[in-house]
Amino acid sequence: MVSGMAADRPIKIAPSILSADFARLGEEVRAIDEAGCDYVHIDVMDGHFVPNITIGPGVVKALRPHSAKTFDTHLMVAPVDPFIAAFADAGSDIITVHAEAGPHLDRTLQLIRGLGKRAGVSLNPGTPVDAVAWVLDKIDLILVMSVNPGFGGQSFIESTPEKIRRLKSLVGDRDIEIEVDGGIEPGTARQVVEAGATVLVAGTSVFKSKTRPEYGAAMAALRGL
Ligand code: DX5
Ligand code: ZN
Repeated sequence: MVSGMAADRPIKIAPSILSADFARLGEEVRAIDEAGCDYVHIDVMDGHFVPNITIGPGVVKALRPHSAKTFDTHLMVAPVDPFIAAFADAGSDIITVHAEAGPHLDRTLQLIRGLGKRAGVSLNPGTPVDAVAWVLDKIDLILVMSVNPGFGGQSFIESTPEKIRRLKSLVGDRDIEIEVDGGIEPGTARQVVEAGATVLVAGTSVFKSKTRPEYGAAMAALRGL
């Protein structure tokens, strides 16, 4: 039984504002905050590491006054090191980079923590869990991609729960969150939570209604409530 809990941790919901109305982003962030989100997931795409371009540090800075919730910044950027300070200064709380986003992952993670931010590593669907094996002491969060990054609204990759199980066994009892991103709706949420995920990113399934009162219900459904 899932019931909004994964073993000892409550499930956190991180709506991806990639699926929000970009013309009203401040309002949208306030709406998901008031509807009870845990994190605000911010998808940053560079048109190089992934085939799409989205949000820069200026937008993150502009959104910061709209919510005190954790800003969970997912950088789909390579090379990423030159941009980390700007996203830290803009008000990100968690900064997640892809394992392939630079030649020296360990150094990148030290850079993030050195700026006083929580450090995350994202694993693409084709990236093995072992990519984080030797940096576990420098990670606060691992973001498992359950779609290939670049776009919202894609189908959940079925091998993801097994990958999360293997990752959970690698992480052991370390204080590291396991977050999943892509194609998350109540059915896939249940599968990944059962496998060990503790944070669920959801773009389409939260914002599809485009009406504020339904954001809370969509998040409750993901929590299994
Ligand atoms: C994909 C992004 C995701 C995406 C999720 O590259 O990292 O955060 O927006 O969107 P849905 O929930 O629509 O699959
Ligand atoms: Zn994301």
